[in-house]
Amino acid sequence: MDRRNFIKIVGFGALTAYLTGCGISAVNDNEEGVAAHDSVSGGRSLNIVLINGSPHDEKQSTSRYLAQRFAEGAEKSGHKVFMFDAANSTVNPCRGCDQCGMDGACIFEDDIEKFLMPKMLKSDLIILVTPLYYFGMSAQLKIVVDRFYSRSTKLGGKKTMLMATAWNSSPWTMDALKLHYETIARYMNWKDVGQVLAIGCGSRKVPELIKFGDMAHQIGLSL
Ligand SMILES: Cc1cc2nc3c(=O)[nH]c(=O)nc-3n(C[C@H](O)[C@H](O)[C@H](O)COP(=O)(O)O)c2cc1C
Repeated sequence: MDRRNFIKIVGFGALTAYLTGCGISAVNDNEEGVAAHDSVSGGRSLNIVLINGSPHDEKQSTSRYLAQRFAEGAEKSGHKVFMFDAANSTVNPCRGCDQCGMDGACIFEDDIEKFLMPKMLKSDLIILVTPLYYFGMSAQLKIVVDRFYSRSTKLGGKKTMLMATAWNSSPWTMDALKLHYETIARYMNWKDVGQVLAIGCGSRKVPELIKFGDMAHQIGLSL
């Protein structure tokens, strides 16, 4: 398998991260120590939108920790990061009224429509961040994802990433979430550029979370 197309890194016991496509420059410098040139950004400053689905606060949240470490790295490298806090924003679930026609304004003039959607439409990279809830994304994040319906076509073709944390450390812990995300990506014609799936990381006290955080940071640095 071409290592530029798919790299699976397993180490540190419960550590699992997937970097696909161009994101590999984060951890795989070539023999000369020069980062792979097929980077996500191609050397440009990216507009990144990060949607966080954890209700936990900054000090408590494990998934927000990954997001923050990633954002620190990305900003250091000159990219702009907009974070949307799905759990603490005014959001409404899609009512399926079809007023948007899958290509226009939503009937809800809430924080998704006013603040998130304009940023997403202009973004180069969208990152879904979630704690694992019953082996899927949190309801807080799912509400936002369902609202992508209003701009299904315009959000097509974006580069995307998934970051998640879970208490369980069985190797199959993230399987359902990963499949769901990859299925959405397939339907939306998204290019998945990386996944940080932190199993066995149910609290901020778990030392392995730092290693996943380091990885998220490194990915942000080397987009
Ligand atoms: C409602 C709920 C459902 C959960 N379901 C799962 C699960 O299915 N598998 C798992 O490994 N952990 C599960 N957890 C644990 C969380 O995924 C884990 O504690 C995570 O680190 C929390 O992330 P956060 O601090 O960013 O919110 C669940 C926690 C809650 C509150």
